Amino acid sequence: MCGIVGYVGGRQAVPILYQGLSDLEYRGYDSCGIALLDGKGILTAKIAGRLSKLRELLKDLPPATTGIGHTRWATHGRPSQENAHPHVDCRHEIALVHNGIVENHRELREELISRGHTFTSETDTEVIVHLIEEAYDGDLASAVRKACRQLKGSFALAVISAKEPGRIVAFRQSSPLIVGLGEDEKILASDIPAVLSHTRKIAVLADGQCASITRYGLEVFDACGNLTDPDVRVVNADIDVAMKENFPHFMLKEIHEQPEALARVLSGRVKGGLPHFEPEEFRLSAEDVRKLQRIFIVACGTAYHASLTGKALFERLAGVSTEVDLASEFRYREPLVPSGSLVIAVSQSGETADTLAAMREARARGARVLAVTNSPVSSLAREAESVVYQRAGIEIAVASTKAYVTQVLCLALLAVHMGISTGHLALEEARKITSSLQKLPEQARKALKSEARVKEVASDVSRFEDVFFIGRGVDYHTAMEGQLKLKEISYIHAEAYAAGELKHGTLALIEQGTPVVAVLTDPSVAEKTASNVMEVKARGGRIISVTTPLTGGAFPPDPLDVEIQVPASYPLASPAVAVIPLQLLAYYAALQRGTDIDKPRNLAKSVTVE
Ligand code: G6P
Repeated sequence: MCGIVGYVGGRQAVPILYQGLSDLEYRGYDSCGIALLDGKGILTAKIAGRLSKLRELLKDLPPATTGIGHTRWATHGRPSQENAHPHVDCRHEIALVHNGIVENHRELREELISRGHTFTSETDTEVIVHLIEEAYDGDLASAVRKACRQLKGSFALAVISAKEPGRIVAFRQSSPLIVGLGEDEKILASDIPAVLSHTRKIAVLADGQCASITRYGLEVFDACGNLTDPDVRVVNADIDVAMKENFPHFMLKEIHEQPEALARVLSGRVKGGLPHFEPEEFRLSAEDVRKLQRIFIVACGTAYHASLTGKALFERLAGVSTEVDLASEFRYREPLVPSGSLVIAVSQSGETADTLAAMREARARGARVLAVTNSPVSSLAREAESVVYQRAGIEIAVASTKAYVTQVLCLALLAVHMGISTGHLALEEARKITSSLQKLPEQARKALKSEARVKEVASDVSRFEDVFFIGRGVDYHTAMEGQLKLKEISYIHAEAYAAGELKHGTLALIEQGTPVVAVLTDPSVAEKTASNVMEVKARGGRIISVTTPLTGGAFPPDPLDVEIQVPASYPLASPAVAVIPLQLLAYYAALQRGTDIDKPRNLAKSVTVE
């Protein structure tokens, strides 16, 4: 994680770097800093804590038109001023910011110390700046390349040298970096939001590439040091802008954006009443799909919860046996991947280190790769053979909402599409399901109407330290996502259980008044879940249920119970609708508890470390 920015151009660098960092703060926010080149040398300002604290220090910096900045999510070394980036070399002539992890930093540090270097931080990052210092012979780009050859791990770097004013050198290895190409200025960043207010033309760096960036020029070198053409793209103007507008938090805004996000997923993807994917989105022929032995889905966090629903969809609609793995587990479990398998990597950012590694592992074992991602410029999008873009628009709040519902819908469309190829779905049935999926945006809009009621319940829930979530089948997946939201932003301990599993242990934790959120939207299992609800009620648990007009009233209500109804949607895609009151529950409970909703403690949006 961590956010990197850099600026070189004709304007004052500080406000641009500051704004860029604030656009990237979602990537990490425990410390931050800036380094400038002012013609005389390098000046740094850094602090432990939030960016707003840095503002004061920045006032004392002299004018400068070249600089780099960093917002940190600590991995090696606690959040402190010493550990905050930028880091400088022994002579104070080179400054560097880094996103990623240097795995061999211990050995390198010992070697550097033995050669006389002095370290001032506990970070893994600091070794890089000393390696560049040693390699420097008048050409910063070549020194950076030379230093990077000694590093193991993931690293996106931005480096400046007092000896080369007006130049930033960047290097990318397994952590994202883009360069915004303004008319007579360049903005380097970890992610698109930081460049959008300056330009929509960006160059995306690939792994192993090094860039030498000046006001008027961009040179990109490949891993062998040869000049190569940059991968230049124009970013979509309509959906990639992120502003809070009138909402108090990005999370609430993003919850409310879900109907439009779902509609965007569908736009152009239904033809003749059936799912339609462009060739670059889905590169498997019908014959390839028919021959598929197994699908593996790999993902983390919220994307994992969407993927669980993906498994239900692929098995039930396409008839293909599907395994879902937490990406961090998949890599190390020696998975048996039959040849001709498909791995689907689901990742909002497309940069999650574990998901990328799992995808690569599956590919190395012979699987074909399809990505479901929200970021067309991500590593995942670049490496996958087929890419289904979520079109959720930029998601800023650390707790993911609109990315989740768009993932569910993308997976549902893919499952129907593949079900037609495998012959598991008759065309008529496929059309019926597609038409149900087209109703999701409107159903999500209606689900948002539960907001006022959920807000009341949330103020009650916020008083508890333990909340349980139950459901069966896809309702269980919704419950899992609901508990994750509550945990992430309100810091209330929450756990989700398959409703039938509760009696095998967790029931012991239910006391008088314990809130239990029961999701009952799937008519085929609602009655079964209702029996489990009765077991909870018999032990004093208080039920907050999410139902639909088809499943409501499945158990006799108590005066203290609360029932929240959402529209009945296509059952296998219902998490895209049923999750909405649970997102709102988490939001309003967190609001009551006064937590930092968009930037919850210890978390970050994009986890580019293992
Ligand atoms: C982090 C975020 C989660 C997200 C997960 C996977 O933990 O805080 O919201 O679900 O990473 O991210 P991805 O970008 O791969 O979907």
